[in-house]
Amino acid sequence: TINLKNRHFLTLLDFTPQEITFLLQLASKLKGQKQNGIEQQALKGKNIALIFEKTSTRTRCAFEVAAYDQGANVTYLGPTGSQIGHKESIKDTARVLGRMHDGIEYRGYGQKIVEELAQYAGVPVWNGLTNEFHPTQVLADLLTMQEHSDKDFTEMKLCYLGDARYNMGNSLMVGSAKMGIDFRIAAPQSCQPNPELVKTCYEIAAHTGAKITITENIEEAVAGCDFLYTDVWVSMGEPESVWAERIKLLKPYQVNKQVMKLTGNPNVKFLHCLPAFHNRETKIGEEIFEKYGLSALEVTEEVFESEASIVFDEAENRMHTIKAVMVATLSEE
Ligand code: CP
Ligand code: NVA
Repeated sequence: TINLKNRHFLTLLDFTPQEITFLLQLASKLKGQKQNGIEQQALKGKNIALIFEKTSTRTRCAFEVAAYDQGANVTYLGPTGSQIGHKESIKDTARVLGRMHDGIEYRGYGQKIVEELAQYAGVPVWNGLTNEFHPTQVLADLLTMQEHSDKDFTEMKLCYLGDARYNMGNSLMVGSAKMGIDFRIAAPQSCQPNPELVKTCYEIAAHTGAKITITENIEEAVAGCDFLYTDVWVSMGEPESVWAERIKLLKPYQVNKQVMKLTGNPNVKFLHCLPAFHNRETKIGEEIFEKYGLSALEVTEEVFESEASIVFDEAENRMHTIKAVMVATLSEE
């Protein structure tokens, strides 16, 4: 039997395929219970700290709603207003919050920071996004893929297009390797993932039957795919000055109707962790579109708003999967 009580959730590298399957099944069970109005509260009286050194809509709301649904309370520590980083080290913050809270979520910069928090907190620490990994996002992605496919993971083909050096490219590669998915990355050479992580994923894949392909060739990468996935071309924490170079590099990798068609699969689905730049209805979007004469960045409005797009199911699933992570690591579930 699987027991994840008191475990941290920092990267999917730390979890076996059986443990990931357990979390997905628990998420699905909790989702069904909530929908049927029969949810049982497993986190009554627990206190959860939410540290956000970067902004968030989905992750914050997912943690808060999941905690409240399960009977827990939350303390939100935003990018400003606490001592973290300015006056107090992560090591001291960990020991303070660990004395008051039963679990700590961290969103911020280096993976090293969330690891240090976990080392000193004495309570479970959950990664709500670092520069390197976004593991709760990938749990939601996996659940969404299961819900929208008749296939097992070992029969699914997933392609990530865009900048694959950071949290989303890395975490999708790890999650796919663990679950035996045929995973492809379509990215220019300079945006391909760190060779050390690729090597680790190849080793995992050798045990799970996953297939990992990293190529500049879009046609090859998307052929036969069940799911195409993309992310913003410039991530939180990066300077605005990188936009020009990224647009030049990544424009060919935009997910548009032609790319969807190139899969040869009329039922191909579109995934995106969100937020997405698909129209002018955001401040940054407007500025960038104007400056570079574009009408969309990583995905076109047409694909984003199409029947193939399952991005809002994916966003909802952030809540159910994060709930599963908290319940599994804090209760006897
Ligand atoms: N996908 C995701 O993590 O969204 P937020 O930045 O809004 O939390
Ligand atoms: N790569 C993006 C993901 C946002 C959920 C970022 O880090 O900003």
